[in-house]
Amino acid sequence: VGRRGLSEVAAVERAAREIGSAGLEWDKLGFGYFETNGTVQGEFRGGRLRSLEFVHGFSSQINVAAAALQYGQSCFEGLKAFASKDGGVRLFRPGENSRRLNSSADRLMMPQIDEEIFVEACRMAVHNNIEFVPPYGTNGALYLRPVLFGSSPRIGVSPATEHKFVVIASPVSKYYRGDSKPVRALVMDRYDRAAPLGLGNVKTAANYAADLKPSSHAKKMGYDASLYLDPKEHKHIEEFATSNFAAIKGDRYVTPSSGSILASITNLSIQQLAQRMNLKVERRKIPIEELEEFDEVASLGTAALVSPVSSVVHGEKQYKFGADKTDEEHSPVFKQLHRELIAIQTGQSPDEFRWMTDA
Ligand code: COI
Repeated sequence: VGRRGLSEVAAVERAAREIGSAGLEWDKLGFGYFETNGTVQGEFRGGRLRSLEFVHGFSSQINVAAAALQYGQSCFEGLKAFASKDGGVRLFRPGENSRRLNSSADRLMMPQIDEEIFVEACRMAVHNNIEFVPPYGTNGALYLRPVLFGSSPRIGVSPATEHKFVVIASPVSKYYRGDSKPVRALVMDRYDRAAPLGLGNVKTAANYAADLKPSSHAKKMGYDASLYLDPKEHKHIEEFATSNFAAIKGDRYVTPSSGSILASITNLSIQQLAQRMNLKVERRKIPIEELEEFDEVASLGTAALVSPVSSVVHGEKQYKFGADKTDEEHSPVFKQLHRELIAIQTGQSPDEFRWMTDA
């Protein structure tokens, strides 16, 4: 697919519309399914990309025996496009998402997608949905959901030879409840999201399916998030159902190291900002009891943002962070790190780390 061809089409489409002209209630978006103009859809046959185009609408015809439906051969990404202070729209670290998708695809025996094609597909999704990019200053973003899945029919278990690659675009703001209160989390001690040498570090649909029941149970009990422990011993903290775990302990930024968690690009970026703030970054095993010693805890992810956590309940035990603080005073270090990240994402601060790419 010619890069120039795609960009030219996109430029013409874009000229007719403007950032945020859909005029939605940007502060009430939350994080849900929202139909924009359409999706980018590509076809792979024999491991080679045969087509990539913008399709008006959210449907695609697939064989009901597709490997993705029968055997879960599917992986995805989540990244955001931000309206910038200078009037442009920029993607946050799409190269990292491209690398992670290719690593997931490799584990699930699906084709690699060139970074250039991946980024161009993201740009096409943004340009064709430009009026749904939340305007600068609204705290929202256009969330992009690239998905790669096995589309050829399989009844015997074997990898597909045909695949679809789609990019969905949807305007979003906060993932957790909209009242800005810190998150309350419940430790999952009767469920695991992943196996020790399984797919925990792969961004595949199955990991989220494994969490549907545990998390809906936690939500019914009034918790906002589920926190998983290591699947081998249930002694160490792994991650939240849809985001990474990190904590502040004095002058240290502590985050789990484990082969069965997903490498969050938000967490990676916040670690760089923490180092710039002279915090010492520790990536290591975190025993569950260490929760007692943390000043702040946060849930970090593209969707989850950097959301302060006020309490973690583990069986009969409740760990509280910043218990004497009001919601506004809660988690000052994570809030500062988040402000610095947003400032880069929206062009208020110089892009010192070269994280942003023009959409
Ligand atoms: C993201 O943060 O982009 C994710 O993919 C999490 C999602 C399952 C809500």
